[in-house]
Amino acid sequence: MPKEKAIRELEDLPGIGPTTATKLKAAGIDTLDKVATAAPHDISEISGISVEAAKKAVQAAQESTTLTYETGEQFSEKRRQIGKISTGSKDFDELIGGGVETNGITETYGRFASGKTQVGFQLAVNAQLPVGKGGLGGSVLFVDTEGTFRPERITSMAKAAGMKPEQALENIMLVRATTTEQQILTLDRADKLIQEKNIKLIIIDSLMALFRSEFVGRGALGERQGKLNQHIHRLQTLADKYSLAAYITNQVMDNPGLMFGDPTTPVGGNIVAHAATTRLYMRKSKEDKRIVRLVDSPNMPEGECVIKITPDGIV
Ligand SMILES: Nc1ncnc2c1ncn2[C@@H]1O[C@H](COP(=O)(O)OP(=O)(O)OP(=O)(O)O)[C@@H](O)[C@H]1O
Ligand SMILES: [Mg+2]
Repeated sequence: MPKEKAIRELEDLPGIGPTTATKLKAAGIDTLDKVATAAPHDISEISGISVEAAKKAVQAAQESTTLTYETGEQFSEKRRQIGKISTGSKDFDELIGGGVETNGITETYGRFASGKTQVGFQLAVNAQLPVGKGGLGGSVLFVDTEGTFRPERITSMAKAAGMKPEQALENIMLVRATTTEQQILTLDRADKLIQEKNIKLIIIDSLMALFRSEFVGRGALGERQGKLNQHIHRLQTLADKYSLAAYITNQVMDNPGLMFGDPTTPVGGNIVAHAATTRLYMRKSKEDKRIVRLVDSPNMPEGECVIKITPDGIV
């Protein structure tokens, strides 16, 4: 008989008691595989155990699960299938490797009027363009949590892109979410809509607004991060399952602990930081100019570009 107890469920992991296990399960981390592939910081944020303890639990989960391998060539073939949506600006597209990619989450964060929503509108129009013309030939699911969707902006941008404005609006499925519950449900129930309407882009503008207003104070942070984790993983799952692109906007706060550099930090903690494939920081420059900084990308170097927000859209 082996001395160590076999690890079969979350509660068998070192440092994970029933309370911690319940919190993790509520956040969608409900199997050993999911613990094995989770970031220790995320586990810590959700459950309140220390990062050190979380590292040990993740390691134990990794040792207890069998991994499946794929060859570099198989993976490479998958990468070749990735589609891209043009932002409308050549420099912006180049900065992020050709456009906003499918099968991943692209996040912009920045202060008010930095252009996050305008970029979302432009992507909602461009996603409808044919493949090879900067689009994916699909429609769009637009989750508006701040009430800032403006059909007249879609109309102007669509006209400028040579599209029929009514058609462009027809291809955008708009959901106005006023609670996190609605926001979460929108994605949980999206499968049918995605297939019927050939949705190729999901926009959440903004990801955090409702979560921030509903979960106030330190005591609510764990629960907030748990729900958020589940929501954003659902988004990633949809992106993979249907080869669609996901675009989320995020708010910022000042990080007074930072003594050097720009103290503007995106909200949402590690959960959002880890989930976003590509992170972009937008800030206002002179007049209609905006500076876009690539902060995090799996395959592109850090860099910046300047875009303009014009009546016709992003250029
Ligand atoms: N029709 C238009 N023509 C030109 N520029 C416009 C037009 N409509 C909006 N803009 C520009 O876009 C800016 C607003 O950008 P946007 O709404 O994308 O900001 P945001 O980053 O989403 O801000 P928030 O955090 O408040 O949501 C305006 O300040 C204006 O400069
Ligand atoms: Mg906005």
